[in-house]
Amino acid sequence: MSTVIYPGSFDPVTLGHIDVITRSAQIFDKVIVCILNNSTKKSPLFSQDERANMLNEVISDYPNVVVETYDGLLVDFARMHNVNILIRGLREESDFASEFKMAQGNRSVAVEMETLFMPTDPKYSFVSSSMAKEFASYGMSLHDFVPKSVEKKLYDKLWKKSEI
Ligand code: PNS
Repeated sequence: MSTVIYPGSFDPVTLGHIDVITRSAQIFDKVIVCILNNSTKKSPLFSQDERANMLNEVISDYPNVVVETYDGLLVDFARMHNVNILIRGLREESDFASEFKMAQGNRSVAVEMETLFMPTDPKYSFVSSSMAKEFASYGMSLHDFVPKSVEKKLYDKLWKKSEI
């Protein structure tokens, strides 16, 4: 059985992520979406559990996709699950430099780890979780960025925060 891990911070999941998940689910027998923390980014807006709930809601139509959270190294999570294929989406050329470094870094500590890159659908090339959060904080519509269910969670979270 071919299994792949699609790792990311998913803070929150975007339409671009969903594009990569659904296309991976058509190629591989099983896709494990792994929600991790990215130490190079500022603290996430959503907790890992909140991010997992949002993802679980949007992948419910895909029986071969599961969502997991992990607080640690991606390669440790992959080894625990006996998986050595990682998939990462590329939105544009400039993503490649950092993604290439991450792939090489992971391979330097776990030589069996293979990273496959999937270019996202061009209509999502500008979509990112951070831009969705930025626009949400100005009350803009997010229909090009995230599913409706996630848009609602984003507004709830940002409004609740600003009331404190
Ligand atoms: O969606 P992101 O933020 O681009 O995903 C990056 C992520 C979470 C996959 C990466 O930061 C990661 O793997 N974090 C877990 C800790 C780890 O293994 N770090 C080494 C990566 S070089």
